[in-house]
Amino acid sequence: MNELPEPSADALVLSERLSEVIRAEIAEQGGSIPFSRYMELCLYSPGLGYYSAGSQKFGAAGDFITAPELSSLFGRCLAQSCASVLNELGDGDFLEFGAGSGRLAADILGELASIDNLPGHYYILERSAELRARQQATLKAEVPQLYERVAWLDTLPAAGFRGVLLANEVLDAMPVERFRWNGAAVELFHVRCSDAGLDWCTVQDGMGEAAAAIQRLAEEAGLAPGYISEINLSLGPWLAGIADILGQGAVLLADYGSARHELYHPQRSAGTLMCHYRHRAHDDPFRWPGLQDITAHVDFTAVAEAGVAAGMEVAGYTTQAHFLMDCGIDRLLSTAGPTDSVDYLKQAQQVKQLILPGEMGECFKFIGLTRDIENPIPGFRLQDFRHRL
Ligand SMILES: C[S@@+](CC[C@H](N)C(=O)[O-])C[C@H]1O[C@@H](n2cnc3c(N)ncnc32)[C@H](O)[C@@H]1O
Repeated sequence: MNELPEPSADALVLSERLSEVIRAEIAEQGGSIPFSRYMELCLYSPGLGYYSAGSQKFGAAGDFITAPELSSLFGRCLAQSCASVLNELGDGDFLEFGAGSGRLAADILGELASIDNLPGHYYILERSAELRARQQATLKAEVPQLYERVAWLDTLPAAGFRGVLLANEVLDAMPVERFRWNGAAVELFHVRCSDAGLDWCTVQDGMGEAAAAIQRLAEEAGLAPGYISEINLSLGPWLAGIADILGQGAVLLADYGSARHELYHPQRSAGTLMCHYRHRAHDDPFRWPGLQDITAHVDFTAVAEAGVAAGMEVAGYTTQAHFLMDCGIDRLLSTAGPTDSVDYLKQAQQVKQLILPGEMGECFKFIGLTRDIENPIPGFRLQDFRHRL
């Protein structure tokens, strides 16, 4: 594995406390817990999980950079797309899931204000109390005049919601099951205690709901015996919950991932589970529980299927590059001001990172799910890859 920088003594104490919580649960459960439960504890255990505790996470001083942290042009482009939906509705609200540092919310609100298309409310649903506080500080500092429109929710709003719902890099942060398909049956990866700390073990789960879903997937994707990968079983219920409250509007989901036949390609036979620590990516989820991000790629075919099963339409599916270009990222960049050439060059460099195929342009995708929206949504007009799903 890559050499990773050593965490501080304080961070190691937090990680050890979380490890104790995990070991206690493993003992209580008779010797092992499903990987999805382990990932849940690592990311969201109150006060100790990666997203719940106080580490930096995003940006240059953190562990990874998301698109909104890289450039405000990302949020400004998204605002063009959302403005079209808000225009069609005549009014409406905004709901962002997992708003991270609050950067994206600040950029979207700022841009919607400048094109006179503000939503009634900008709601944020965030599971981490620490990030909620960080979002409040960002928005107070960046868009103080719009702060009163922002409200934090603990649960989904009531049925009849009209507007735009957005989740950037939230699906990849949902706990996944890790499995091995042995050609006839499913083995689920669990986590157990070992002399060295925590380790993998497998259990046969012939009768369970997870095994049934994985068996369907294995047969559909034609997985070879020995194939290892991940599946997000929370996706369906999560989208069904959204569909239940969506009266009219659009759900925009952006993340790294691909269509099912690409994600479960024979060459990807070890899955896509990845950990991020101080800008190093590696594949050991047992390293310093709670101090590193754990993610897996998104199956966008599963997103589309779950959206349709919940009664929404798939309005478009495309790459981040095509989405941003359709929303006019070049036009927005050109207004960045040729008077300040240093700033312009910096922003041009960031745009390259957002759209070049070898950077974020192709591995990140956007999907739009809608209810009662007629107009084409900016972002999906240039190149729509729904046929690949
Ligand atoms: C990788 S971060 C992305 C943050 C931000 N959207 C960005 O692009 O910079 C994942 C975020 O999703 C949040 N999250 C994960 N599952 C969630 C859920 N079910 N509902 C709301 N937020 C969630 C995490 O707490 C965290 O803020």
